[in-house]
Amino acid sequence: MNIRSSLLLVAVLAATALTANAQYGPPPGGPGGHAGPDSPLEIQMKILARGKRQLTGQIADPTKQQDTVTLIETLKKASVDSKALDPRKTSTVPAADQEKFLAAYRAQMDKLTDAFNQIEEAVKTGQYDKAKSLLGNLQSIAKEGHRDFKQD
Ligand code: HEM
Repeated sequence: MNIRSSLLLVAVLAATALTANAQYGPPPGGPGGHAGPDSPLEIQMKILARGKRQLTGQIADPTKQQDTVTLIETLKKASVDSKALDPRKTSTVPAADQEKFLAAYRAQMDKLTDAFNQIEEAVKTGQYDKAKSLLGNLQSIAKEGHRDFKQD
């Protein structure tokens, strides 16, 4: 095979791969997602998801105490910023009920901020077992939040 036909083969293979990906790849927005770019709230949620994973990995490590406190501050900021944003689902709620829906959403987000405050306090005072057990609260607060405010 000369250079020219090798290049052609590479180009054909690349084009085939791209087409296959376009045909069979995940929908934009990821599995179970939606078309189009992430909403500002989804961007915050991704910060929460990544940060929570990191927190779970290091929460009881005394050598990372300061780093963990900084991480929790980042997570708290994401929950406060999320509170100011409206879930996509809001537009599917009848106009007359939207205020109530948003008030309930913001109250749930306050619960998340409170949970981070409690964890921060435990880490700052070296109560690592307590901090670890408080992680479970995050899980249930997120579960409730997604059940009530996330679009199916
Ligand atoms: C540590 C706690 C939480 C984590 C790790 C988390 C994680 C996530 C993730 C990974 C997504 C999907 C993002 C995407 O599709 O790109 C999401 C979406 C969402 N979450 Fe959370 N979440 C948490 C807490 C909460 C709470 C407390 C609420 C409600 C008060 C909430 C409401 C939502 C909503 C409404 C969406 C859909 C986004 C939209 O409507 O624009 N989440 N969350």
